[in-house]
Amino acid sequence: MVVLVLGESERRKLDGSDDADFYAEPRFVHHLDGAFRQRLTALYRERIPPGAVVLDLMSSWVSHLPEDISYQEVIGHGLNPAELAANPRLDRHWVQNLNLSQRLPLEDSSVDAVLIVAGWQYLQQPEHLAAELLRIVGPGGQAIVAFSNRMFAQKAPRVWTDGSDRDHLAYVSRVLQAQGWPSPQLIAEATRAEGPLGWLGGHGDPFFAVVAEKPAP
Ligand SMILES: C[S@@+](CC[C@H](N)C(=O)[O-])C[C@H]1O[C@@H](n2cnc3c(N)ncnc32)[C@H](O)[C@@H]1O
Repeated sequence: MVVLVLGESERRKLDGSDDADFYAEPRFVHHLDGAFRQRLTALYRERIPPGAVVLDLMSSWVSHLPEDISYQEVIGHGLNPAELAANPRLDRHWVQNLNLSQRLPLEDSSVDAVLIVAGWQYLQQPEHLAAELLRIVGPGGQAIVAFSNRMFAQKAPRVWTDGSDRDHLAYVSRVLQAQGWPSPQLIAEATRAEGPLGWLGGHGDPFFAVVAEKPAP
């Protein structure tokens, strides 16, 4: 059974039009800076074993996985078919608006690691998705939800636009736990900007992640 965490008003967003319209044109840009991406790739290297089946949910033309590591399969999902087709890490992919339906076309316990990068902030039904993630991830597998401090504000529900970085970490964790994921690890780190700015002590995009592991039976 799905345990609801959000009230209806917290799910509302400024731009209530179909999300597919917003993502209709491909964006071949990086949504996060190099410092954030480096930190994320390091986390993946540390957490995801070679040979794993990986699902990059809410993906684009990049998956941020370490280039030198092979996985059994990397499955992609997103809203823009051209971006997903251009992503060199994906073995296959599908398009699905997760604010309209949360049932994922994957078997129970068929994935070792599910990744969401800069995507959770657009979910209006995160509880249903978190329950689906628990279904498709196998025992000992994990969910890694990473984000920074920016967003397309008109497309983020109120629970995200009204919250601080700390609130976002607590919120993602609360939704996962409510669906049966055990107490997740929370990561909050400053990053150092790439290049000369970083040498002078400048910061990059801050790095936040929620890492949850499904217990072995
Ligand atoms: C800021 S981009 C991040 C893309 C990618 N994870 C990355 O790291 O570059 C947000 C992504 O969330 C996904 N997304 C947003 N709204 C969605 C929705 N309603 N249903 C499914 N995916 C959605 C799209 O795939 C979009 O590319």
